[in-house]
Amino acid sequence: MRVYADNAATTYMSEAAKAKFIECLDNYNGNPNSLHSDGQRTQEVLDEARQTVADCIGAARANEIYFTSGGSEADNQALISAARGLAPNGKKHLITTNIEHHAILHTMRKLEGEGFEVTYLAPQANGIVDIKDVEDAIREDTALVSIMFANNEMGAVQPIAEIGALCKSKGVLFHTDAVQAVAHLPIDVQAMNIDMLSMSAHKIHGPKGIGALYARNGVRLLNVIEGGAQERGKRAGTINVPAIASMAVALKEGCDHMEENMAYVRKLRDRLIEGLKDIPYSQLNGDPVKRLPGNVNYSFEGVEGESLLLHLDMYGIECSSGSACTSESLDPSHVLTGMGVPVEAAHGSLRFSLDIDNTEEQIDYIIEKVHSVVERYRGMSPYWEDLETGKREHCIPE
Ligand SMILES: Cc1ncc(COP(=O)(O)O)c(C=O)c1O
Repeated sequence: MRVYADNAATTYMSEAAKAKFIECLDNYNGNPNSLHSDGQRTQEVLDEARQTVADCIGAARANEIYFTSGGSEADNQALISAARGLAPNGKKHLITTNIEHHAILHTMRKLEGEGFEVTYLAPQANGIVDIKDVEDAIREDTALVSIMFANNEMGAVQPIAEIGALCKSKGVLFHTDAVQAVAHLPIDVQAMNIDMLSMSAHKIHGPKGIGALYARNGVRLLNVIEGGAQERGKRAGTINVPAIASMAVALKEGCDHMEENMAYVRKLRDRLIEGLKDIPYSQLNGDPVKRLPGNVNYSFEGVEGESLLLHLDMYGIECSSGSACTSESLDPSHVLTGMGVPVEAAHGSLRFSLDIDNTEEQIDYIIEKVHSVVERYRGMSPYWEDLETGKREHCIPE
């Protein structure tokens, strides 16, 4: 049996998204900046896609959506715009968390190199940031709070509406990386007081290499890519209309069916969590309730996540031992250690990210194989032997 359970790394494109992409290649190939008919026909497709994306996240106007090459670029542009844009007003302090995606963390490091001060908040043990910590961190010179909507590794969902309201009351800009949340959780940028939001198409059954930044009118964006005047002068480069139109179709499909799709995926997730519960010295990472519908992140003490992953792959089960972007590194996940999971437990972690294509039969197959693979590796592990003989202490209770 083959089981694809790595949808947080990337998803397969939906049939409708693929069809739209091809339709655009065939019929809307003009440059939307061209004044001739072919260009103008393509411009109409682009306008429609922008409106769809705006509607799906509750934006007031379509012109608040700027298309980018993906979530990473949107994150970079949001942070750089807020920091460099507000620095002349004496605002040189930024707030984020230590469990963000590297698109945020590495941009923050770069801004630190430019003289900005960054506060990295640690979440509570369940992976959720305490709103009081956010409030305490805000200062007179804070330009921006950037906190992800939902975590890509352990799935915890942050109190976005509360953070948005807090930032609004303090006059601080609020950005959220919603790459994993869009089309999985209800989002309303106006009701939630979100000033900027990043999204990416390939996590929601759209194509790779395309995403968007929502920036509320009034928020000044600075260019990350210089050149032509595309995207209201804020993002140069010939516009990738097939990818954008395809992304809009995938997003609308996901949002239109969110309730029933996510109820189904949540059931699969809970079945998997229930099935792994009886493995001794193992734990679910991230809040059991306030978590992404498809995320199961589990630590198994005494084994290496990478070994488990490769062995499961031999059984046709594709999952992840950390975020896809860092899967080539053997350092324990910064997300798990950042929320206080002991390094030994973080090393033995697996992430299953489920979606609508998964079935109960597949979940039962995962449960069966994880049990046997964990037992097998523990049987071969000198580290496990030390735990069993009491030479080392367990870090996860039985
Ligand atoms: C939370 C989060 N932010 C940003 C990104 C980067 O998105 P993209 O691959 O579109 O650049 C990812 C991708 O893994 C992600 O999970």
